[in-house]
Amino acid sequence: MDQIISHLREHRDKYVDLVRQLVAIPSVSSDPDHQDDMIRCAEHLKEDMAKAGLENTRLMDTGGNPVVYGDWMHAEGAPTILIYGHYDVQPEDPVDLWDSPPFDATERDGRLYGRGVIDDKGQLYIHLGAIEGWMTEENRLPVNVKVIFEGEEEVGSENLDRFLEEQKELLSADVVVVSDTGMFAKGVPSITYGLRGLAYFQIDVEGPKGDLHSGSFGGPVDNPANVLVRMLAQLKDADGQVAIPGFYDEVVPLTEEERKNFAKLPFDEEEFRKESVGAPGLAKDQEFSVLEQLWCRPTLDVNGLNSGFTGKGAKTVIPSSAMAKVSMRLVPHQDPEKIGDQFEQFIKEIAPPTVRVNVTRMHGGYAYLADINGPAFNAAASAVEKAFHTETAFIREGGSIPFVHTITNILGAPAILLGFGLPDENAHAPNEWLDLENFHLGMESIAHLYDEIARQVG
Ligand code: BES
Ligand code: MN
Ligand code: MN
Repeated sequence: MDQIISHLREHRDKYVDLVRQLVAIPSVSSDPDHQDDMIRCAEHLKEDMAKAGLENTRLMDTGGNPVVYGDWMHAEGAPTILIYGHYDVQPEDPVDLWDSPPFDATERDGRLYGRGVIDDKGQLYIHLGAIEGWMTEENRLPVNVKVIFEGEEEVGSENLDRFLEEQKELLSADVVVVSDTGMFAKGVPSITYGLRGLAYFQIDVEGPKGDLHSGSFGGPVDNPANVLVRMLAQLKDADGQVAIPGFYDEVVPLTEEERKNFAKLPFDEEEFRKESVGAPGLAKDQEFSVLEQLWCRPTLDVNGLNSGFTGKGAKTVIPSSAMAKVSMRLVPHQDPEKIGDQFEQFIKEIAPPTVRVNVTRMHGGYAYLADINGPAFNAAASAVEKAFHTETAFIREGGSIPFVHTITNILGAPAILLGFGLPDENAHAPNEWLDLENFHLGMESIAHLYDEIARQVG
């Protein structure tokens, strides 16, 4: 093990450079203009997998962007782990808010800046680096390894469920490992055992056949913008409770033990309001702490609104249509499909007959919650402690990774979410950065993790 760790330390610059090469390929999955880049990125990763020592490397068809696959299956009698990451990234805009070019990753003050450095290109590289270290120094891995990198995570992994179902034999494993989450704070390495799910919708309201003069027509003509905001306002009450009938029916309550554990984490709500949010106040729930709200409670948000005249000055007009994007973060055991039915039903009930209202279901995914009392979680905690020399925090996250619920369901194996992002690293935003110390210690943790799983998971 010492030699592997020394190897990882000696080659730190090389690993950073490999991440930079990956970032240089703008694999923005939401933009059809980047279709060629998706394939280029997948091919590039396939080569990197082979260089790290993985075998059977290939691109696999999903109906959408390919999954990159590689494995190393010669650890006879040892457990098998399935490693997941995603090579697609979020769009770079607004590009003028970046201090350095988003696809030319730049190092400043121990940080690497660039689109995807933390989400998830840098993090998936942590695994390739750890594998390369093992293979170069020991010419073996202590566990059997299967690696898949998907290219549609940031657009909802819509082709992935079918792919996983079809390939469940190929992907069978004892433990799933995902590095696409964060640490609670700098110096607090963390294992994430819960994620929220997601249900995403677009609402379109159409009224008059075209925009109308609001003086000549205002009054008898119902205005789609007014109608839309009236409906949106009914989705959540003044206390922040979602008003869709049945929305909370399947919500699993928090346990007292969890609440106690969260309360022990170094978190200050006022500091969160001021530093991380920067708003004059928080929409605090009467019953739940901020962390509990973020990690364990479902919520509903308008993500975007569009209608009528939004330019400079004033224009007296009744817009012919209005549109909103609405998403809900879900928790165990809410079913995104069922939530979709309840939402459509509710919108139907509150929509006036003066307009046409259409709901489009976009992507969705289930939440995830693991039982942390298993050997895989112990192995992960030991591994992290060997690299970071401090105790591991067990946390949940408010974000979503649709893969995690699906694969754990199919395989009946636990997923360890061991990621090294920081809450302020600007994932999805301008100036996304990667803390290089976390990157290197993350890689050492993962090198230990393979070993600890071999020891502790029977
Ligand atoms: N890596 C994130 C998920 C995440 C976010 C984990 C915050 C931990 C903390 C992932 O790439 C992501 O952005 N997921 C999307 C999912 C969606 C597009 C289906 C999300 O959460 O919005
Ligand atoms: Mn991610
Ligand atoms: Mn993301």
